[in-house]
Amino acid sequence: MKEMELRGLLDSMTLREKLGQLTQLTPEYFGFNESDVVTGTDALHPVSEEDAANVGTVLNICEKEKVMKIQREYLKRNRHGIPLLFMADVIHGFRTIFPIPLAIASSFDPSFAEKAASYAANEATAEGVKVTFSPMVDLTRDPRWGRVMEGNGEDPYLNTLFAKAYVKGYQKDNLSNPSSIASCVKHFAAYGAPLGGREYNGVELSDWTLHESYFPGYKAAIDAKASMVMAAFNTIGEKPATGNKSLLKNTLREKWGFDGVLISDYNAVNELIVHKAARNKKDAAKQVIKATLDIEMMSTCILDEAEELIRTREIDINLINESVYRILKLKSDLGLFENPYIGMENTAPSSDLSLEVAKACPILLKNEDSILPLNRSEKIAIIGPFAKDTHVVGGWSMKEKEGKSLYDGMRKLSDSIKTCIDTPLGSLLEGIKDIPDFSDKELEDNLQGIDTVLVAVGENQNDTGEGASKTSLTLSYNQMKLIKEAKKLGKKVITIVFSGRPMVLSPIVDDSDAILQAWFLGTSSGDALAELIYGISSPRGKCPMSFPVNEGQIPVFYNHCITGRPEDKNNFTRYVSRYLDAPNEPLFPFGFGLTYGNNSIKSFKIEGNILHILVKNKGKHRCTDTIQIYIEEHNEPYARPSRLLKKIRNIELGDGESRSVAITLTKEMFLINEYGNKRFQPGIFRIYAGFDSNAEHSVEIELTNEEFSKLEEV
Ligand code: BGC
Repeated sequence: MKEMELRGLLDSMTLREKLGQLTQLTPEYFGFNESDVVTGTDALHPVSEEDAANVGTVLNICEKEKVMKIQREYLKRNRHGIPLLFMADVIHGFRTIFPIPLAIASSFDPSFAEKAASYAANEATAEGVKVTFSPMVDLTRDPRWGRVMEGNGEDPYLNTLFAKAYVKGYQKDNLSNPSSIASCVKHFAAYGAPLGGREYNGVELSDWTLHESYFPGYKAAIDAKASMVMAAFNTIGEKPATGNKSLLKNTLREKWGFDGVLISDYNAVNELIVHKAARNKKDAAKQVIKATLDIEMMSTCILDEAEELIRTREIDINLINESVYRILKLKSDLGLFENPYIGMENTAPSSDLSLEVAKACPILLKNEDSILPLNRSEKIAIIGPFAKDTHVVGGWSMKEKEGKSLYDGMRKLSDSIKTCIDTPLGSLLEGIKDIPDFSDKELEDNLQGIDTVLVAVGENQNDTGEGASKTSLTLSYNQMKLIKEAKKLGKKVITIVFSGRPMVLSPIVDDSDAILQAWFLGTSSGDALAELIYGISSPRGKCPMSFPVNEGQIPVFYNHCITGRPEDKNNFTRYVSRYLDAPNEPLFPFGFGLTYGNNSIKSFKIEGNILHILVKNKGKHRCTDTIQIYIEEHNEPYARPSRLLKKIRNIELGDGESRSVAITLTKEMFLINEYGNKRFQPGIFRIYAGFDSNAEHSVEIELTNEEFSKLEEV
C-alpha cells in the first residue's frame, strides 16, 4: 500500500482500534488453548472480545492451519480488513534445526548464519510466521548467563558481522518476497551483561563500554535494515531499557535513524511497575509511549490506559498515530494487505543445509599427538550421557526438539563401534545417574580390543537459554569421574562436550587426549560430529567466547582495557593485577580452535595499505582456517584494550599448501568509537595476524591524517 493509502486507513480508525494494533497477545486470546511455544509468565491480562478483535499481532503460533483459522476469523470481524501479523522466536531454524547461534558464530563465517536464516525463513513463512524475534545480538562475556547460546559471543566486530548476516538471510532482498521474514533484533540494550550472570538482573556498564562494545551489534542490524527492534527486560544503571526514552528515542530512532517497529519484551511494560520505575499501569504506558515503543507484548498497559492519557493531554495522540502507522507499514511491506496468507503456499526447501552448517561449528580444543581424525576401522567405544541422546538441538528450538545422536551418526560411517554405554543425564547436580562399573567382567570383555573411547558429556539442553543461569560451569562430578575412569582403561580418550555455553573444562583437560566442543548442533548433530571425527571434514570452529579456567575468572574476555599494573610472568611481585590461585588468561582464548591441518604464518608484511600474509599448512589434511587481524592503538586520553579484532578471512588450505593472502587496510579498522562518534587519531598502530587472539606476528605502522584519508572506507 502507498503511504497515502496507509495514512487514509489510519485516519479512518478509532482510537480503540489503534490501541489494538499496539497490543500483542498469544493464541489463548484467539480461542486456542495454548501457544505452540511458551516463552514467558503465564499471567494473562484480561482483554475484552471487542479489543481482541482489533489486536494487531500474535505471538508464537506456528502452524499453518491454526494461523489460517485465526486470520480468517479475525478478518471477518475487523471492519478495516487489517490483517494480523504473526511473530515467533525462529532462532536457529524452524522445522530443520541449525546449530545454536553461539555455535554458528564459532564458524567465524557469517555466510553460514545468512544461509541458515534464509532457510529458516522459507520454512517459517510456509506456516504463516512473518516476523522472527532474531537475531539476538546481545554481546556476551559471562557464560553463567544461559542465553549466551543465543548470541554471537564476546567480540563486537564478530557480532556485527553476524548481526548483518542474519538480517540479510531472514529478510532476503525484499520484505515483500513471500518467503521473507521480517527480522526483529534484540534485546536493546545490553541484556547480555546481567550482574553476576543472573537472568533478568540489572546491568551496570560505562557509557564508553556501551557505545564501543555493546551497541555495535544492534547498530549493524539496523544498518542492515532490520524491520524491528525489541527493547530489553533489564535496567541499565537506574533505568529499565523498556521505558528509556534516551535509549529508544534519542539513540535508536534519532541518532541511528531507526524508523521500524519497536516492541517490548514479554510483559516488560507491566514489569516497569515491579522495577518501581512506574507507579502504576498508566505511568508505565506513559513512559513507553513517550519512548516511542510501538507494540506492547503480553501486557495491556497501553490498551487500558492510553485513552485516559490522551484525554488528560499527558501524551500526544501523534505518538500513537506514528506507532500505528509503523505497524501498518510493516504489514504492508510484508505484502499482508494484498494477501494475508502470503508465503503459506511455499513448500519448504528440500535440500538439507543443516549438515553443512553443523560441520562448520564444533571447536577442536585439544588434539594430542593428532589422535583425531580416527580411522574408520579403529575399534571404539562410545560412553556418556550424550552417546545416544537425541536432545542435542539446543534451547530455543522451534518445531523439533531432537536431532541425530552421536552414536547414530558414527554408526552410519563405521561398523567398528564395538560398544556404546549410554548413561542418561540426571538432575543438574548429578549430571548422570550411574557411572558404569568398569571393573565389571562383562564390561571389561566388551572393552577388550578397543583402541579409543569417545566420552560424550555436557549439560542438558534445557539448562541453557532463557532462565538458565548457573554459578557452576564444570561438568557434573559424575561426568568428570566418567572421563577419569575412561582414562584409567589405558585407551585414547576423546571427550566431546555438548553445551550451550563455554563450560569450565580445566578438570578434564589432562584426562582427555582430544577435546571437541560440539555445542548443540541441531538436526544433523550426530552426522556432523561423525564426519569430523572420521576426518571427512576438518573441524574449523573458533572460540567466540573465552573458555574460563574457573568460574572465579568470569568475566574473562580478550579485549578489556589494560591495567596500569600488568602482571610480569618473569618477575613475581605482589602489587600487580592477578589472581593468587589462577592465571589471568582463560583456558582457551577467544579465536582459538585447531584444525586437522598444521597451519602457521610464514611471513607477515605490509606494502602500502595491503597486508601480505603467507600461510602454510604443514599438516596432511585439507582444512579451512581463519586468519584474524587484530590492531593495537593508542588513543589518548583513553585507556585501550591491548588489541581489537578488525578483520577475519577464511581460507582453505590443502595438505602441504602455502598461500599468500592479501588484506586491504580500511578506514573502519582504525576508527575509535568515542561515545558513538567514530573518530581517527593519527599515531602508531601495531597490527597482528594469527589464528587466535594471541596472534604473535605483527607489523607496526604510523598513520597520519593524510595517509588515513587515502584508505578505503570499509
Ligand atoms: C524473550 C524474548 C522472546 C520473547 C517472546 C521473552 O521471554 O526474552 O527473547 O522473543 O519472550 O517469545
